[in-house]
Amino acid sequence: MSNIPFLRALQHQPTTHTPIWLMRQAGRYMLTYRRLREKYSLLEMVKTPELACEVTLQPIKAFQLDAAIIFSDILPLLEGMGLKLEFITGEGPHIENPIRETSDVEKLRITPPEECVAFTLAAIRLVRPELDALKIPLIGFSGAPFTLASYAIEGGSSRDHLLTKQFMYAHPDHWHMLMDKLSQMVGNYLLAQAQAGAQVLQIFDSWAGSLGRVDYQALVFPYIQKAISIARNGNVPIIYFSTGTNGFLNVIRELEVNALSIDWRMDLDTAWKIIGTNKAIQGNLDPALLFAPWSILQKQTENILRQAENIQPDRRGFIFNLGHGILQKTPEDNVKRLVDFVKNQ
Ligand code: CP3
Repeated sequence: MSNIPFLRALQHQPTTHTPIWLMRQAGRYMLTYRRLREKYSLLEMVKTPELACEVTLQPIKAFQLDAAIIFSDILPLLEGMGLKLEFITGEGPHIENPIRETSDVEKLRITPPEECVAFTLAAIRLVRPELDALKIPLIGFSGAPFTLASYAIEGGSSRDHLLTKQFMYAHPDHWHMLMDKLSQMVGNYLLAQAQAGAQVLQIFDSWAGSLGRVDYQALVFPYIQKAISIARNGNVPIIYFSTGTNGFLNVIRELEVNALSIDWRMDLDTAWKIIGTNKAIQGNLDPALLFAPWSILQKQTENILRQAENIQPDRRGFIFNLGHGILQKTPEDNVKRLVDFVKNQ
């Protein structure tokens, strides 16, 4: 049995303190990151294992976090399918040849992760010994099939995901073909990360909440489950993260994962009751609260801890996190204060 709090929480074991890590904890809000970023592009950093390793460690060195997440992004995996990806400063991701026709789906390739995302697997192997020395576990991750499909079809970020939904309704056979290909890529990628040394896996389904329950259940859920069933061969705990999906937690709770990560739009205790205590729960501070005066941030943090206690008096199975990724201009001092506070409660 591990004595690492984050791993124990994922197995519903009591912990010496409530584990905390923050989604997208490495990034532009950190001065050390911005300094490195002046010299390299995002994709250069992701694709150079030594740099990815360094960035993974930046938040670990700055704050007393309970887990590290490998530095990468959800989108490079799409390059292995034949999509051309770039990140445009100030605009975000851009895909030069998005999926617009059914024939585009037929052309998508399934490439082994050892070929198309070897850099991230190498970064995992490189960073593990450094983290082991600090007794910090490493999280590997992937985008979920729907969230990846939305980038592949829209060609970038989107507010309403309209092209994605239009494709889904107009071409059901090709939608299923697309989701099937994506679920194989995602499953293989997660499994390869576990085999390279990731001790936990997280699936980011950031845009699943743009769907209603009926479509999520029929057109998306089976493919997340397919990716999970491949990844489970890695024998490490899996966390599924989504936002805006609290209205169908009773569907999501059927995923064969160890933990669900929820957003701030529902009380944590209400969500955990729906999910059931056979799953661990992660969340759910609004990332904007890291911009609030400390008294407000503290009160809302305490409120989340109390809600966890309403379900598990010793908070076993609870991992403190944000309800979505940390925001770009977050003050580092507030991050430090939050992490120290949660660990002492
Ligand atoms: O410590 C970490 O967690 C960092 C690793 C990480 C990144 N992206 C690096 C990154 C992780 C886990 C992600 C996940 C990711 N990427 C998601 C899912 C999580 C979420 O927040 O919803 C999504 C949807 C993406 C796609 C993506 N990547 C977008 C839309 C953008 C542009 C907008 C933005 O936040 O800048 C990125 C760029 C990106 N990925 C940055 C980082 C650190 C900013 C990069 C920079 O310019 O330096």
